[in-house]
Amino acid sequence: MVHKSATLAINEALERRLAAGEKVLHLGFGEAGLPVPDFLLDVLRRAAPANYYAPVVGDQGPRKAAAGWFSRRGYDTDYQQIVFGPGSKPLLFASILSIEGALVLPQPAWVSYAAEAEIAHIPVIRVPITEHAGGVPDPTALAEAVDKAEHDGVKIGAILLTIPDNPTGTFASQADVDAITAIARAHDIAIISDEIYADLVYEGTAPSPLASYPEKTIVTSGMSKNLSLGGWRIGFARFPDNEWGEHMRDTIIGIGSETWSCMAAPMQQVAEYALGEPDEIKTFIAGSKRLHSKVSHAIHDVFVNNGAVCREPTAAFYIYPDFEPIRERLASQGITTSDNLAHELLSRYGIGTLQGSAFGDAPEALRLRVATSLVYGRTNEQRWQSYYSDNPLELPWIAQSLEFLQDGLASISRS
Ligand SMILES: Cc1ncc(COP(=O)(O)O)c(C=O)c1O
Repeated sequence: MVHKSATLAINEALERRLAAGEKVLHLGFGEAGLPVPDFLLDVLRRAAPANYYAPVVGDQGPRKAAAGWFSRRGYDTDYQQIVFGPGSKPLLFASILSIEGALVLPQPAWVSYAAEAEIAHIPVIRVPITEHAGGVPDPTALAEAVDKAEHDGVKIGAILLTIPDNPTGTFASQADVDAITAIARAHDIAIISDEIYADLVYEGTAPSPLASYPEKTIVTSGMSKNLSLGGWRIGFARFPDNEWGEHMRDTIIGIGSETWSCMAAPMQQVAEYALGEPDEIKTFIAGSKRLHSKVSHAIHDVFVNNGAVCREPTAAFYIYPDFEPIRERLASQGITTSDNLAHELLSRYGIGTLQGSAFGDAPEALRLRVATSLVYGRTNEQRWQSYYSDNPLELPWIAQSLEFLQDGLASISRS
């Protein structure tokens, strides 16, 4: 049986508690936490009458806009290389389903990759991330894993990278990405690069395997995170401009044609508009990055001040604290796994997070995935205030969330 994704399950459980009036701090779900700006609502209003089945790949307008979006980032792209879908998740699933061989995942990695591979009966090989950043395997450990697989007669079909990363809120260095693409090229392994958080890097830009291995890299992205439009289901993928790329693209189109048919027609127009990156889109993304950075750093500091070690966030709206330094104190309370830790934080202190084991980390690693963006407010009015505030940490609902977190973590870490 296929179970409900851990991240959707915790969201639904926490929302139920909140609806019942319980005091719960929701740090469990990767939703960008901002309302839809008026200029996007206007585009959707105008697009609403579109009720046709769009082509499986998407209309030409949005495909051209997506090609321009990649080209402006330095990766020349023709619209024929682009496929749209209802979110990037089904495009990732179709890509994973279409690779020939095992799938290498960073450890930890976003919850759905391994679940999708399991549904597709594709074996997964997990390779630990580096100390500095998540989303890509440590290159030395990857080289060993690839050698071992070859020795064992296991063919590796693809390496999946998340740049920037969920769950760690960090991104790999160009050098590490280049080291990985060198291994991939030497062993003729494809790369699937999930770049859905690429626009949410706090400073600078994230690297992409497209720079060093364009011939066998599929990139997926969408608008769920940079524009906070998760429920509008806009995703797209870019395939290489060669025979292999065309083969993969056509396979994914085939899968799409038999499953989701197309991205919703009104969303084709939203995507075309947003991927053209008019000024208001750029301004909105810049403002959301500022807010994500301030709040993620503040929540990071609360965890670190209460005994956890944690990579500093550099993108998106996540942190991934590790309570290893206070393992003994936690063990004395019967907490020896990430499941125990997440469970106790929720049941004793009302703090909702997701255990690291859901991301493929060893069960005994005392790590949690903390999503930081749901503290911006429970109403759109509060969320806009958070967005526009110069000092969002001082807004009562955010300050209270930080205090609630501090009290709970202080209690569990000092017990
Ligand atoms: C790393 C990563 N990839 C993909 C997705 C799915 O995004 P979409 O809404 O485009 O399906 C998410 C959403 O949480 C994510 O965190």
